[in-house]
Amino acid sequence: MKDKIKTMTDAAVKQIKACMSGAEVNEHRVRLLGKSGEFTALLRGLKDLPADERAAAGQLLNNERKKLEDLLDAKEAAFKKSELAARLKNEYIDISLDTRVRRGSLHPLTLVTNEIVEIFIGMGFSVYDGREVETDYYNFEALNLPADHPARMMQDTFYITDKTLLRTQTSTTQVRVMEQTKPPIKMINPGRVYRADEIDATHSPMFHQIEGLVVDKNITMCDLKGTLEAFAKRFFNENTKTRLRPSFFPFTEPSVEVDATCAQCGGGGCRVCKGTGWLEILGAGVVNRKVLANCGIDPDVYSGFAFGIGVDRTAAIKYAVTDLRVMFENDIRFLRQFK
Ligand code: PHE
Repeated sequence: MKDKIKTMTDAAVKQIKACMSGAEVNEHRVRLLGKSGEFTALLRGLKDLPADERAAAGQLLNNERKKLEDLLDAKEAAFKKSELAARLKNEYIDISLDTRVRRGSLHPLTLVTNEIVEIFIGMGFSVYDGREVETDYYNFEALNLPADHPARMMQDTFYITDKTLLRTQTSTTQVRVMEQTKPPIKMINPGRVYRADEIDATHSPMFHQIEGLVVDKNITMCDLKGTLEAFAKRFFNENTKTRLRPSFFPFTEPSVEVDATCAQCGGGGCRVCKGTGWLEILGAGVVNRKVLANCGIDPDVYSGFAFGIGVDRTAAIKYAVTDLRVMFENDIRFLRQFK
């Protein structure tokens, strides 16, 4: 009996040591120590031994059994540990992946348009919408640029047919509004305009303007200057000054370009204003009598002023952007800065 126990234990120890997994260890545990296991059978056989051998054999059997149990426990614990480690590695979920939905932001041109529109609404202007595809009449003819007028050469136009085109200026809306509305008129019209320009740092074939028009009795150049200066102070800052330079537009007489002191340097001269301290922000003038008459408004009773703000330029000034192209490339790194 003793020998049998010894041989069985030795074999079992070898087998347990050779186990490759927790499951295998468990199989041996059942095979050796389970209800119908080999050691259990030996234990049951003790009662058949002669009484003098029984005690010694029982003790040995218990000792060996204890040894095997410890070995099985140790093996199982080791496998549990390594198997857990393997599982943790396999079932690892990378929760660091950021799947949050990112909130977008308004384009800088939209922001600047909204801001300008708000300022004029605050001064009592109404907002009108125009058309991007226009007729020759509204873009040129009604605005005192007849077919052979040399000023037409100032604007390289995208023609759709002989008589339809992509508007080159929002001034078209002046005519449409004056045709439909009796003075007093106080309107602005933000919108896209198109000119056949090559793309470079300061030109784009599509850009944005905000047209303004005021028509009433006794409107003069003073109203123009006061309104636009108030606008510049609100848009840039309180210290902004404006100056008028003589200019020419067929639909205004007299015509001016309005400059504002550079908002970046306050007028001292910098990169944005190319050292001059001034930035051209818009074209304007007193509405030409012929334009009023074209629209059925009596120029002896009414007068007005009009202006056209270049939104893209203004936005570039506001955000110190020196190359207009970034406005249209939609590089997310640029756009994200305007939240
Ligand atoms: N339409 C002119 C331009 O595109 C700007 C302007 C508008 C000038 C209104 C005078 C009055 O250059």
